[in-house]
Amino acid sequence: MQIVRQLAPLQDALAELRKPGLKIGLVPTMGALHAGHMRLVEVAREHCDAVVVSIFVNPTQFGEGEDLDAYPRQEAADAALLDAAGVELLWAPTADQMYPSGYATSISVSGVSDGLCGAARPGHFDGVATVVAKLFNQTRPDAAFFGEKDYQQLAVIRRMARDLDFIHDIIGVATVRDPDGLALSSRNAYLSEAERESAVALPAAMREAASAIAAGGEVAAILADAKSRILASGFHKIDYLELRDADTLALLDVLAKPARLLAAARIGRTRLIDNIPVE
Ligand code: PAF
Repeated sequence: MQIVRQLAPLQDALAELRKPGLKIGLVPTMGALHAGHMRLVEVAREHCDAVVVSIFVNPTQFGEGEDLDAYPRQEAADAALLDAAGVELLWAPTADQMYPSGYATSISVSGVSDGLCGAARPGHFDGVATVVAKLFNQTRPDAAFFGEKDYQQLAVIRRMARDLDFIHDIIGVATVRDPDGLALSSRNAYLSEAERESAVALPAAMREAASAIAAGGEVAAILADAKSRILASGFHKIDYLELRDADTLALLDVLAKPARLLAAARIGRTRLIDNIPVE
């Protein structure tokens, strides 16, 4: 696997991979790879002939007081995993390649960026949309792969790609979970043993709430009950637990299909997010 850190060699490496009739798949990541990322690589391999993975811990999507400095960085281990998975190219740009001196441009996607994580993390989705647009321009893939775990992020990227005429496919990949149901996340590494045990209450309460809503129960009462159970199991704050239209992310107070239940909650110093379909 070739590892490239500068834009000029990236273009050379891509030119080697870009053969007539062959497809290039891009998997953008911030590293600290786990089985969820490797599933994205696997799906990219199913759809494409060559797989490019990017690793860049993007400072513009972290707010003040967030975990930019603490965010796990383990590039050598990540590269070994990607190499073993047969990835052709690792794009690991330096910060000055991404944001050269004088950098002044930001992409803001209104509507889908509002509410949910957009409310709790002001500016976060501007940072995501901007860096993903840059990654799309830098690599010009035939398809790009993102986890459904970051469901609002996926909606923001789809909207941005439609609005800015990125014509390649954007493919969402189902969340990978530990056997007890906790969604895999690089931030799970922050959890103490006790917190990890309690964290399972989040997906468990969400699953129960989703079934109760699907069975015709009253949405507000079901969500209030789920919130109480999450708080009783060790989470100290719930940023949101909401039923949303699965496509537009519009808030729903009664079930309309397709719908999605989305949550963010804090346990210890860790903020966990999750989402599941309600059908
Ligand atoms: O989901 C992530 O890892 C990041 O938000 C992304 C899409 C790589 C942009 O930095």
